Amino acid sequence: MVDPIIIPDDSRKLDASNCVYPTEYEGHFDSLMISKEEIKEVVRSLAVQINEDYRGCRPVIVCVLKGANPFYQHLLDALQDCRQGYSMEFIRVSSYEGMGSTGNVKMGLLDKDLEGLKEKHVILVEDIVDTGTTLSHLIPILKEKVNPASLEVCSLLSKRIKVPQKCKAKYVGFSIPDHFIVGYGLDYNELYRDTQDIWVISQKGIDLDPSSFK
Ligand code: HPA
Ligand code: MG
Repeated sequence: MVDPIIIPDDSRKLDASNCVYPTEYEGHFDSLMISKEEIKEVVRSLAVQINEDYRGCRPVIVCVLKGANPFYQHLLDALQDCRQGYSMEFIRVSSYEGMGSTGNVKMGLLDKDLEGLKEKHVILVEDIVDTGTTLSHLIPILKEKVNPASLEVCSLLSKRIKVPQKCKAKYVGFSIPDHFIVGYGLDYNELYRDTQDIWVISQKGIDLDPSSFK
């Protein structure tokens, strides 16, 4: 089993001089938490592990939108490199508004979206497991509605929070400290999804009025 890469609690002072991001985000990040090169390497090792575990099966790989989208695309690429077959499905779920988990999970689960999961080996792909609230709502509903042959979670990130997570992923890329991060699909009020690396947001980024971008 691949162990997650542990990102230590104190800032790693990674060199961010080669990172690119939209010009309007200048000053909105405090530090680089994970570079796109580190992400790429971890994605490859997760794909190798999934390929080993699902040999002889065609899992349904489910993208939990929107945050997991970049990770999902790169994971599928890496699975193709391993010659691992799969089916694709997408579901949209959220429990965050601003910087806090609302505890209030919004799920746009349509029965027709779940049709493709029935009795299959299902892998849910998430960007981050933080409190685990989203998954703790989603998993029992999926189990009841689609009766999967198996159901596992693959998350790029798992946050080391002070209280126990309500749900844990089987496949985890990085274990990260308890900071609010953005980038590579992860947002703050729908901004910052469009970067290649993962950043710790700055006060300027937090204070920004998202409607200031047109
Ligand atoms: N950033 C963005 N979205 C999140 C986070 C985070 O740190 N934790 C849970 N959802
Ligand atoms: Mg998410």
